[in-house]
Amino acid sequence: MTTPPMPEFPAGFRWGVSTSAYQIEGATAADGRGPSIWDTFAGTPGRIADGSSGAEACDHYHRYAEDVALLAGLGVSGYRFSIAWPRVQPTGTGPANPTGLDFYDRLVDTLLDAGVDPVATLFHWDLPQALEDAGGWLHRDTPALFAAYADLAAARLGDRVKLWITLNEPFIHMSLGHGLGVHAPGRTLLLDAFPVAHHQLLGHGLAVAALRARGTGPVAIANNYSPVRLIGETEADRAAGAAYDALHNRLFTDPLLGLGYPAGMNFDPGVVRDGDLEVIAAPLDVLGVNYYSPTGIRAAEEDSPLPFEIVPLTGYPRTAFDWPVAPDGLRDLLLRLRDTYGDALPPIQVTESGCAYDDVPGADGRVHDPERIAYLDGHVRAVREAIDAGVEVTGYFVWSLLDNWEWAEGFTKRFGLVHVDYATQRRTPKSSYAWFRDHVVRP
Ligand code: FCB
Repeated sequence: MTTPPMPEFPAGFRWGVSTSAYQIEGATAADGRGPSIWDTFAGTPGRIADGSSGAEACDHYHRYAEDVALLAGLGVSGYRFSIAWPRVQPTGTGPANPTGLDFYDRLVDTLLDAGVDPVATLFHWDLPQALEDAGGWLHRDTPALFAAYADLAAARLGDRVKLWITLNEPFIHMSLGHGLGVHAPGRTLLLDAFPVAHHQLLGHGLAVAALRARGTGPVAIANNYSPVRLIGETEADRAAGAAYDALHNRLFTDPLLGLGYPAGMNFDPGVVRDGDLEVIAAPLDVLGVNYYSPTGIRAAEEDSPLPFEIVPLTGYPRTAFDWPVAPDGLRDLLLRLRDTYGDALPPIQVTESGCAYDDVPGADGRVHDPERIAYLDGHVRAVREAIDAGVEVTGYFVWSLLDNWEWAEGFTKRFGLVHVDYATQRRTPKSSYAWFRDHVVRP
């Protein structure tokens, strides 16, 4: 697909791709790994669209060298992966399992040899099951245990990881995992899931302190954001939009940047204790922004348990996930973060941006994905527009390197620049891979 030339990006801008442990590694019983909440959830009938699990996924645990070669071929300077907590501590506490850490040690060295910066996420939703059995993120012990795990990871890898990301999308883990039950651990607490927000944020703050104490490189968190598009113009619609915005876009950012919780967040007394907000507001080097699409919101029906109603947006092209394609939402979001937080906002890296399409190899074995090229073209330009408007954005990572195991959707949603045939584990770079290399990374 031909696209107009991409405007230049600042020198040193980090182009990368992202993945996460449970979605690609497989080898869930190898080298002493303990079970995580996602093994349990995927093993429960009816939870995953195609009945699959991440037990094999992309077999990246054994094929990481081939996958790093794909990264090198793409020319990216960053690779964001996640470390599986249950590989490091099979039950979530106690000493490190050295053979579990060996895998990440090998991965990091292979990346550095290939000239790719390792960017490590400590928690991409795969909590050790033993911790969930003790209450998981609803329990106030979990934050300190998370920091102890962060310390073990930093002790082994801290000399080589170029950017640490504490948590991936704590909003999604709270809302889909604990509020609505669509993700592990499958709790359906609706707004009673709020303690999961506070404990994740507290775990983040304590982990930042642990990483700093080890003298690691820069530290970030990766939040999910979705600009609100109001459906309707009544006072009640506007109030619903503000409520959704507070929950999705501000709950995890206001306290991180020193503003405390947005008004109207009703935590049970006792959840937020003296000193917690100071721990949470520990200075960050980078804010990770994961963006996929905006959300349509209008006022809720009177008997609704939630203060808003989510409405599908019309008038946009849609991905195979039925998510609207709206690059202007990314530009608006970046500008809005700058306008809301001003000097408190650290430099931003877009830590996830991407789309699912039903990519199938043609008769010639090639995989053509012009929709993904159009998607990425629009979103990369949106980042450039935000930079032109004065927002400091220093990186952009595509979700994802490989087609992979997409949580509750199983193998039914393909997000990769590289197609994976799950029966043979054969990797085939799609046309978007060559486009991203030739038009974005090395124009
Ligand atoms: C994000 C997740 C990532 C992947 C993409 C499609 O919410 O962080 O693991 O599932 O969505």
